[in-house]
Amino acid sequence: MQDTFDLIILGGGPGGYLAGERAGHAGLKTLVIEKRALGGVCLNEGCVPSKALLHSAKIYDYAKGGGEKYGVTATGAQLDQQKVIARKNKVVKTLVSGVAAQLKKNHVTVEIGFGEILGKTAAGFEVAVNGKTCTGKKLLIATGSEPVLPPIPGLREAYASGFGLTNREVLELESIPENFVIIGGGVIGLEMASYFNSAGSRVTVIEMLDHIAGNTDREIASILQKNYEKKGVKFLLSCKVTGIGTGAVEYEQAGEKRSIRADKVLFSIGRRPVTAGFGLEKLAPEMDRGAVKTDEYGRTNIAGLYAAGDVNGVLMLAHTAYRESEVIVNNIIRPVTGTGKKDIMRYHAIPSVIYTNPEVACVGETQESAAKKGYDARTVTASMMYSGRYVAENEGGDGICKLVIDKKNDRLIGVHMIGNYASEIIYGAALMIESEMRTDDIKELVFPHPTVSEIVREALFM
Ligand code: NAI
Repeated sequence: MQDTFDLIILGGGPGGYLAGERAGHAGLKTLVIEKRALGGVCLNEGCVPSKALLHSAKIYDYAKGGGEKYGVTATGAQLDQQKVIARKNKVVKTLVSGVAAQLKKNHVTVEIGFGEILGKTAAGFEVAVNGKTCTGKKLLIATGSEPVLPPIPGLREAYASGFGLTNREVLELESIPENFVIIGGGVIGLEMASYFNSAGSRVTVIEMLDHIAGNTDREIASILQKNYEKKGVKFLLSCKVTGIGTGAVEYEQAGEKRSIRADKVLFSIGRRPVTAGFGLEKLAPEMDRGAVKTDEYGRTNIAGLYAAGDVNGVLMLAHTAYRESEVIVNNIIRPVTGTGKKDIMRYHAIPSVIYTNPEVACVGETQESAAKKGYDARTVTASMMYSGRYVAENEGGDGICKLVIDKKNDRLIGVHMIGNYASEIIYGAALMIESEMRTDDIKELVFPHPTVSEIVREALFM
């Protein structure tokens, strides 16, 4: 006997589970298939657990001396890594069970098992899972991404032996390595550099480019680097890793071969979409640089086949996946139920955050990207020291807020910040960009005082 669904979703991460919840809520008979754990990388081995670790690190930083600047002295502060991990696991468990509960509440069938696409028939897409074959009138691919492990000599062996780690294993380490080498100074590398630096490791970040933090505004990336250098993190920029040896990482700097001692090495050199091994080739959708190609409705070139989240390679962020899923489900349910709106994906106001201390948060165009796109843009930069709350809470802070404004119509097109609470402020900036606010409109808004958020408005008076 076959189970037939209106929608089958392959992958239970942010893209998959949210699509499940929304579809189930709208009354579609929905199946979510997940091979590991609901919540995917984000909840189990990425965004959320790393935030739990970083919060423990922040408390430890204050306790071990960071509090002195604020008149608070503590003695005997210790970070118990096993307890930190245990708490992180508790956080993950709470949230994963929350996802399961939401799916249940919305009458979504969940199969924990490996889903394999068998093909497409007149009835729909056939997917095998846990010994049965299910048919979906529509199929959503939300299989996510996996770490890139390039063919650097010794890398695979290092990973197999436990000397080399990815985002998965690094969040399970029960002791703090003395020498921690991080390959890749992007988002994962920097957040983990932050944690292990606070926890007591000697941290070195090896980065191929001449700057950290990828496409982040260069001035902000440079402030972030200086903050971490002050805390003792070493950055080896413009360096090429040539091999992973026993207890060491070999690299080339300006043509010279060098080596650095390591007790553990983190590989954080990017992620790639998961598109193989589960029968996708039987449907053979159009691909774009290793990702499933989608349009602004999340559709592939095959009728009824959709893709959301990291697997489409557009913007590998959990919150992008959320919104892509909503767009897909809204457009699926409209003709079926008569509810749901005509929805379209817009990517120009999606914020991104690096949860270091200080935090970095950005949305929209940088000065460079605006120029490339042909904007005649101006930039204003304000020191966070103009915010009373920032001064009160950030002794010696060097945060900034940078606004990018289209000169043609005085519209805000980018906001880039470094300084704490930036992660919680940036959605407001995204809202301004999304609603196409001009600087005069923003000046008329009233912000709560004293908050760090005021800096976004204050910058307009610079
Ligand atoms: P990434 O793309 O952010 O950074 C990778 C870095 O590695 C780049 O700076 C690149 O130049 C460097 N690199 C590449 N090959 C190298 C080599 N052989 N030697 C030295 N450096 C090399 O990738 P990352 O940090 O692995 O993160 C993966 C994904 O996860 C990203 O798409 C990111 O958006 C997402 N993520 C988002 C988070 C957030 O929103 N806070 C947190 C963690 C991950």
